[in-house]
Amino acid sequence: MDSILVVGGQTLSGTVATSGSKNAALPILFASLLADGEHRFDNVPALKDIDSTELLLAALNCDVERDSHSMRVIVKPPSMAEAPYDLVRKMRASILCLGPLLARYGEARVSLPGGCAIGSRPIDLHVDTMRQLGATVEIEEGYVIARADRLEGARILFEKLTVGGTENALMAATLARGTTVIENAAKEPEVVDLARYLKTMGAKIEGEGSSVITIEGVDKLTPGQHTIVPDRIEAGTLLIAGAITGGAVTVEQCVPQHLRSLIDHLKDCGFEIGQDASSISLASCDRWQASDISTAPYPGFPTDLQAQFMALMTQADGTSVITEGIFENRFMHVQELVRLGADISPMSQVAVVRGDRGGLSGAPVMATDLRASASLILAGLVAKGTTRVNRIYHLDRGYEHLEKKLKSLGANISRVSGSD
Ligand code: EPZ
Repeated sequence: MDSILVVGGQTLSGTVATSGSKNAALPILFASLLADGEHRFDNVPALKDIDSTELLLAALNCDVERDSHSMRVIVKPPSMAEAPYDLVRKMRASILCLGPLLARYGEARVSLPGGCAIGSRPIDLHVDTMRQLGATVEIEEGYVIARADRLEGARILFEKLTVGGTENALMAATLARGTTVIENAAKEPEVVDLARYLKTMGAKIEGEGSSVITIEGVDKLTPGQHTIVPDRIEAGTLLIAGAITGGAVTVEQCVPQHLRSLIDHLKDCGFEIGQDASSISLASCDRWQASDISTAPYPGFPTDLQAQFMALMTQADGTSVITEGIFENRFMHVQELVRLGADISPMSQVAVVRGDRGGLSGAPVMATDLRASASLILAGLVAKGTTRVNRIYHLDRGYEHLEKKLKSLGANISRVSGSD
């Protein structure tokens, strides 16, 4: 298993570009299943989760060709609309093929995804949505088995905000008979990007990005072309890398509007932030104040930046209270940060981070999930000596060559293979 070695103490500076969004690319690639023919995508990030999606699309009789950050997906009807366990277990977002397969073929067999390090990750809201759209859904031998001659438009109210649930509902409703209204819909930019692609395919959608999305079902969709929106979580991670080293960093090819909450909190810490239409610039700053965060659905503070921001707070002046409002177990990085010398007291959904307790010291640490991996690398950038982050396969699921991007900003960082 690969590891990342970071020698702390370098002040990062310069300009770095963001890749395409993992969390937009995944639902958009599954949306291609709604229409036979050739779909073309640009700004597709080179990630393990995209590799997993490619394997699942191929298992569903699609021909997939990738060339750098472009992708062609030629969709053809599969002999069986099934997403098997051995593929789904590698990436729980595979549940996003449920809506498209059910809407297009009238049936879908999708393996239950199973939980992951940050929580049980149930899919009850996805299943309920398909039933509300008129499908029969059974759970048998670890599979979700859904059937419907044709889905019927419905009024869907999500009692709990769900990004994936909103995306599955949105995709399924595009081919349903009649009108579907999704209330308490997720407003994430990735949902908006998915809706943008579906509209390119001929779907009739209004309200994406607000909490009420209306879809007029159509009989058929056609393949299209789409450029994936920049990854706001990667952009935020790169900004925090500059901030934690006291450097001046500009992140390009991003959408500042998608990072308002992080930008507000960085300003609250005392960082100077500039921005234009597609870049965010952070001025160098060698001391910053603690800032409290509570993760929340967009446009609130993203749960996917919580671990990275916590690393920054370990070096702040003062105490930060970090509340995780989305997932039940997203503090796996805390004990690893404590191994580096951080002063953090986790209590269920709240962690108290005391910043002015001196610096961090490098040590071997273990990545437990995707964003925890990034948090440990950021901490390694400022820890004295060398930090070895093990089980870095988590990182490769959602960041495209993060170590190369950080090295281009001056980090002393390298990838080593070998057992941990
Ligand atoms: C998406 O996951 C993202 N993944 C996650 O990013 C992100 O953290 C999350 O949204 C929240 O923003 C992708 O887009 C591929 P949810 P998703 O459904 O859709 C509960 C990353 O690091 N819930 O909005 O799975 C759930 O347990 C990943 O890139 C149910 O109870 O998140 C959670 O507590 C991690 N029943 C809350 O809702 C359901 O049927 C929000 O989950 C579905 C979800």
